[in-house]
Amino acid sequence: MENTERKPIVLSAIQPTSVPTLGNYLGALKNWKMMCEDYDCLYAVADLHALTVHPEPAKLRQQTLEMYATLLAVGLDPEKNIVFIQSRVPAHAELAWILDCYTQFGEASRMTQFKEKSAKHADNVNVGLFAYPVLMAADILLYQANFVPVGADQKQHLEIARDIASRFNALRGETFTLPEPFIGKIGARVMSLQDPTQKMSKSDPNPKASISLLDDPDVILKKFKSAVTDSEAVVRYADGKDGINNLMSIYSCCTGLDYAAIEKEFEGKGYGDFKVKVAEAVIEELRPFRDNYKRLMDDKQYLLDTAAQGAEKASRIANRTLTKAKKKVGLLLG
Ligand code: TYM
Repeated sequence: MENTERKPIVLSAIQPTSVPTLGNYLGALKNWKMMCEDYDCLYAVADLHALTVHPEPAKLRQQTLEMYATLLAVGLDPEKNIVFIQSRVPAHAELAWILDCYTQFGEASRMTQFKEKSAKHADNVNVGLFAYPVLMAADILLYQANFVPVGADQKQHLEIARDIASRFNALRGETFTLPEPFIGKIGARVMSLQDPTQKMSKSDPNPKASISLLDDPDVILKKFKSAVTDSEAVVRYADGKDGINNLMSIYSCCTGLDYAAIEKEFEGKGYGDFKVKVAEAVIEELRPFRDNYKRLMDDKQYLLDTAAQGAEKASRIANRTLTKAKKKVGLLLG
């Protein structure tokens, strides 16, 4: 994928920590797929980022392959997009080191996710966790990405990527494009079904709190039926109705209906009916994914070959930027 047509460039990535949730899907993956037509897109499995939590090695390898299959199964065509595994493109780790030297300790310390994760896992606050946003900046800047489709939780990491790029450009001359976050209006923050004030997360210990993309339809139905709501029994989007607001935004993402249309559809109906409808919409939305995923996971060789091709295409672009950055900082090239 050479940028001959000069379409804007899009890059995003997802960690291979476990099967993605409906939050990952509605907040990120669904937008990734929609952007394929209008942009030149690169999508990565961020396996280097996953090392910060010390996953079991065999498990990480398996989950990386599964996440790669997931990206193809949601509909990212590897002929039209560059779909790759981050660690297979060594330029990411190399540029990250250069950018580490252009990132201030203070700004990295202010990252909310770093503060949250280090409070949660006080026994393993490693330097990788601290430098995590800098590696993320390298992922983005290597491809001169214009837009980065992410959920709302990644916004601050995008801001620091822009700050690092601007500082580098100011000190060493124009090198990197400044990326813009691309955050959908609806679905950018899918909340837990059990505590709708918290984001739906892969790492939630309560299985009823999140929908995995591979949950069976009857499991999805059960989880939605037990979703926490409120006692008003009116389907309307309003402050203080976190549970219903969350279900309405999920339903809106899956059906394309706006909130007014949803309120109308469920006028005079109880939450029971609404929850079943939301579950059905999600089941339908995920059906093609489940079928594709199963087929792809039965053909590991295809996945490995496609990942190798993706890494080769990504490396070609990444190495151009890396060479430019190395020259700018004064590394002696052959
Ligand atoms: P990760 O793997 O945690 O999540 C992948 C994407 O899913 C979005 N997301 C959500 N969106 C809406 N509601 C939710 N409940 C929800 N949970 C997760 C995330 O915002 C993200 O877009 N650091 C990144 C991965 C990364 C990256 C990058 C992203 C590495 N390099 C370069 C963009 C560009 C992460 O951990 O995402």
